[in-house]
Amino acid sequence: MIRVGVLASGSGSNFQALVERLNVPGSPARVELLLCNVKGAKAIARAQTLKVPTKVLEHSAFTGREAFDEAAVAVLKEHRIDLVCLAGYMRLVTPAFLKHFAGKVINVHPALLPSFPGLHGARQALDKGVKITGCTVHFVDEGTDTGPIIAQAAVPVLPGDDESTLSARIQVEEHRLFSSVVQAIAENRVQLRGRRVDVEVKSP
Ligand code: GAR
Repeated sequence: MIRVGVLASGSGSNFQALVERLNVPGSPARVELLLCNVKGAKAIARAQTLKVPTKVLEHSAFTGREAFDEAAVAVLKEHRIDLVCLAGYMRLVTPAFLKHFAGKVINVHPALLPSFPGLHGARQALDKGVKITGCTVHFVDEGTDTGPIIAQAAVPVLPGDDESTLSARIQVEEHRLFSSVVQAIAENRVQLRGRRVDVEVKSP
């Protein structure tokens, strides 16, 4: 069983979906920690309800990104975290952080990367007028949403969509995709080969 740590900054719906899908008997992975960088974020209240240990590290209390990430790594190590999931974590992680968790940091993004990286993936898709968008789970590297892609799910853009209706439709897929990638990693079904990632599909 692998121990999962989730980093979140906001609402935490992906965090909750990971807990609900992974923290069940027989699961190969379990969420053991929420690390949040924003005091009062809704993710923290969700963690309390779900009884998941939580640590709040406010980034404003640190002198720089390196100092903050050093503290974050220490908390993750203290909780013996094997895999780090960025779930609406609105900060770039530093090279030092990635060195401590090489190949063990994944992120969920609300677009079909490499299209629409950064903030407001759904809004960017609407602005460009694409008819299909979706979500991506990828390994994290030093760039913004540039790491090797593990899995994607497509979501249609429907007539009349605004940012909130499209985001909600994308999130349904994010919640499903993120936990299935964590399960695949926990079951050693994910192989990183340079920029490409092979995921072995589980037989029914
Ligand atoms: C999610 O849609 C996630 O993909 C996005 O923030 C949202 C967080 O929602 N992340 C990014 O845009 C990162 N580039 P949540 O807090 O309810 O999980």
